[in-house]
Amino acid sequence: MSPAPRILAFAGSLRRDSLNKKLVRIAVEGARAAGGEVTLIDLKELPLPVYDGDLEAAEGLPANAKKLKELMKSHQGFLISSPEYNSMPSGALKNALDWASRAEPGEAPLACFKGKVCVLMSASPGALGGMRALPVLRNMLLNIHVIVLPDQLGLMKANEAFDETGRLKDPKQQATAEALGARLVDVLRKFHPESPS
Ligand SMILES: Cc1cc2nc3c(=O)[nH]c(=O)nc-3n(C[C@H](O)[C@H](O)[C@H](O)COP(=O)(O)O)c2cc1C
Repeated sequence: MSPAPRILAFAGSLRRDSLNKKLVRIAVEGARAAGGEVTLIDLKELPLPVYDGDLEAAEGLPANAKKLKELMKSHQGFLISSPEYNSMPSGALKNALDWASRAEPGEAPLACFKGKVCVLMSASPGALGGMRALPVLRNMLLNIHVIVLPDQLGLMKANEAFDETGRLKDPKQQATAEALGARLVDVLRKFHPESPS
């Protein structure tokens, strides 16, 4: 049987108690319930130096940048939840994507991004739910050839939104976050019709 749609999920926050890590986990549940095969990673476990062209010229890509690229290449879709820092996506996320965008000798440009399908989310204690950062992140991903779906979620007052089990207290918000994961699976099946339903 053909494999299920493969999705790589991560938050743009390194923080242990990150609200964005909680939010992406819910979308992951939705994707898995819809039949997706999801790998959830924590960028804190793939620490990277700030991108420095001199470092790259001297040493090539850091091992964790190579690991991240391989993970991205081996999945068809991405579920990303990014914090908003000063109205922009987090530096940790931008830095990770910058390293991943660097081609190694003999590798096609943007090999781990081209043709991937992505769903974006953001969680913030603020009243805007990180919604100012999402268009910036969307634009960046589109420019590196990632297909970003229009479906997205900016979770406002996220510091009050989760219960102790990690679910969203508001059932409608919980369903919305789960549906984002399911939507990505659904679209990936259309892109890759050999995947079973
Ligand atoms: C440097 C910095 C800048 C921030 N700027 C914003 C902002 O522009 N908009 C916003 O909604 N929250 C902002 N916040 C608050 C974050 O949304 C909040 O810390 C959030 O919990 C971070 O995501 P995480 O819980 O996934 O780590 C900022 C926080 C920091 C540390």
